[in-house]
Amino acid sequence: MVFILLGPPGAGKGTQGSRLAAEMGVPKISTGDMFRELAAQGTELGLKAKGYWSAGQLVPDDIVIGLVRERLAMPDCDKGLLLDGFPRTVPQADALGSLLADLGRDLTGVLDFALNDEELVNRLSGRRTCPKCTATYHVVAMPPRQAGICDACGGELIQRADDQPESIRKRLQEYAAKTEPLLSYYRERGKLHTVDAAPKPDAIYAEVRRAVGLDGAGK
Ligand code: AP5
Repeated sequence: MVFILLGPPGAGKGTQGSRLAAEMGVPKISTGDMFRELAAQGTELGLKAKGYWSAGQLVPDDIVIGLVRERLAMPDCDKGLLLDGFPRTVPQADALGSLLADLGRDLTGVLDFALNDEELVNRLSGRRTCPKCTATYHVVAMPPRQAGICDACGGELIQRADDQPESIRKRLQEYAAKTEPLLSYYRERGKLHTVDAAPKPDAIYAEVRRAVGLDGAGK
């Protein structure tokens, strides 16, 4: 099974994707996490990408596609995968189609997490993340047991550089201009399933399970 998690910044792709990947026993491939890790390691590619994402801009297609090409060829993808935050542009979607075809695989479906801008801004400004294990919290909606400390690994939580008001505004503009066209791209191909991302996480997850066929009902 190959699923794409699509949707604007802060809609809950990472939160739902982590849970789904654990239940399905497949990797969640987040291009955002990959860039942050490469930047933390101080690699040339990571630092170049950081110049874009910290300002709320998309990283250029050729960089992202090269990274995903290498990742999809890894053996842990054999039994299935979730793509979180890729593709984000039409050229990336075209490239993904070719990459999957080269690997003899098909795209199973696309889950689009839909949420209004006001709630997106609220979620992004209250988000705290663990730089050690990438677990995500929200200071009000999903707080850790101990303020500022990751429940999962005890790491110190931080606020992402791109969760500042100016970057959030830019990310929402980038989403509307470059990523939203993917909704009709995948709708026309019969792959799109829209998930209301406004309810509580457990209610959204029940819908996600239905959408991927984990409750036995199919898509
Ligand atoms: P990336 O890390 O992918 O960021 P994003 O898409 O902007 O998505 P987010 O991680 O911000 O949000 P999310 O939808 O995962 O929400 P989350 O679950 O955390 O990418 C970062 C940057 O890297 C991009 O801006 C770009 O520059 C670059 N990049 C990455 N991929 C790229 C690509 N393909 N092409 C080009 N550039 C690329 O939830 C958000 C908050 O809400 C959390 O605090 C969470 O606790 C809370 N929350 C979640 N669910 C709920 C709920 N139901 N109710 C209340 N609160 C909730």
